[in-house]
Amino acid sequence: MSAPTAGASPAAGGALLEIRGLKVVFDGFHAVDGVDLTVEQNEVRFLIGPNGAGKTTLVDAITGLVKPAAGSIRFEGGELVKRREHQIVRAGVGRTFQTPTVFEQLTVLENVDVAASFRLGLPQLLRRPRGATPAVTAALEAVGLDALGDAQAGTLSHGQRQWLEVAMVLCQGPRLLLLDEPVAGMTGEERLRTGELITRIAGEGTTVLVIEHDMDFVRRFATRVTVMHEGRILTEGTVSEVQQDETVREVYLGRPRDARGAGAAAEVAS
Ligand SMILES: Nc1ncnc2c1ncn2[C@@H]1O[C@H](COP(=O)(O)OP(=O)(O)OP(=O)(O)O)[C@@H](O)[C@H]1O
Ligand SMILES: [Mg+2]
Repeated sequence: MSAPTAGASPAAGGALLEIRGLKVVFDGFHAVDGVDLTVEQNEVRFLIGPNGAGKTTLVDAITGLVKPAAGSIRFEGGELVKRREHQIVRAGVGRTFQTPTVFEQLTVLENVDVAASFRLGLPQLLRRPRGATPAVTAALEAVGLDALGDAQAGTLSHGQRQWLEVAMVLCQGPRLLLLDEPVAGMTGEERLRTGELITRIAGEGTTVLVIEHDMDFVRRFATRVTVMHEGRILTEGTVSEVQQDETVREVYLGRPRDARGAGAAAEVAS
């Protein structure tokens, strides 16, 4: 989908994203509390962790939605902290939201067209072709919504809205795609299609960071998993390493060795 970068040089060792000592503080509460995270080029990294762990806040910090109190976020060697949201999009970082944000009154194609223009500067914006440009068509094909281009976005199912949101980001040609719980509320079949979509996107050269709760999905599609808890990185490893980690089981359990939390722990461990 996206070509390798020209100009910007990746950090040594193939790291695309290097986060160091990142802190995000809300009224004295440390939602992200000293996170170090490295994501390599062409990786699909899964980020898991209990509710309130700080996963979305971390993505908000990467994309400029919240301002870190401390730390560094280097993307292709360049510092993202202090850049504005649209500058980060133009640098090649795209994201979806936990709740899909599509323009319901517009058609599917118009939604992607509007999103495609977000990356452009004013001179390009004024000259840009509109409608079904190759980038817009390719993004709709990638997510399997090409036959629904003229449908009003408000009529789409929940799963289709999630895919539309992915298409809206893909048309901007990101080299890093951040997906916040992309399969939440989806049917089993939609989850499968989404997992295949993520794998395909990564295979075409876009690095993907996926926040996910659904352990079945993680087991099926993840290779490397990072676990967050209370604003910090708890551990990182393969799916089986993470599943076997005693501390991970305990944070999902909520109350260690309490029978009432056993279901959640079994979910991670099984
Ligand atoms: N804008 C904000 N102002 C104050 N507190 C916030 C804000 N955004 C997030 N928080 C708090 O920061 C913590 C981390 O929230 P965050 O949404 O990042 O968690 P999460 O890991 O994405 O959880 P979930 O799995 O439920 O989506 C939570 O305690 C949340 O209440
Ligand atoms: Mg979240």
